[in-house]
Amino acid sequence: MSDQLHPDIERIILSEQDIREIVRRLGAEISVDYEGKNPLIVTVLRGAFVFTADLMRAITVPCTVDFMAVSSYGDGTKSSGVVRIVKDLDTQIEGRHVIIAEDILDSGLTLSYLMRLLRARHPASIRICAFSVKDVPGKKPAVAATYVGTHVPDSFIVGYGLDFAERYRNLPYVGVLKPEVYS
Ligand code: PRP
Repeated sequence: MSDQLHPDIERIILSEQDIREIVRRLGAEISVDYEGKNPLIVTVLRGAFVFTADLMRAITVPCTVDFMAVSSYGDGTKSSGVVRIVKDLDTQIEGRHVIIAEDILDSGLTLSYLMRLLRARHPASIRICAFSVKDVPGKKPAVAATYVGTHVPDSFIVGYGLDFAERYRNLPYVGVLKPEVYS
């Protein structure tokens, strides 16, 4: 019933069932790789909070979570790669195994900046777990994710944490927004 289509959505590209399977697989991979390492999951607000909540429950080894909020300088629709930290981590990450959880990797500029910033704090390791990677023909994200949930087309997608003007984050699926909504 919750897969019922919102009137602003053209089509669903990842159903709740698809999402469950993706997250279960990522959680299983991380649980194997981080046995005994007590990883710190770093969530980049806001979009990734929905994914993180599911991912943490799919991880079976002890882990902790902390949050960062960044704001991208730019035109608001594209990353510029210059990011301002709006909320920093409360956790000291020196010597910790850090996994950055992201909802979507597009240009990768946000994460490339964040990786540099967090590496300077000397974590034991740092990796990216991206729920989705946007496939843009002829372009590759500036950083690679170690854990990739799925690839999504280069369309205006919302839901499962992804927004348009802060809306639709609460849709339990990922769908393509109807063009008349944003044009
Ligand atoms: C989105 C997403 C990533 C970033 C990816 O965040 O959550 O953080 O864009 O883009 P990039 O790979 O091109 O840098 P957004 O800035 O829309 O903020 P939000 O998470 O609050 O929606």
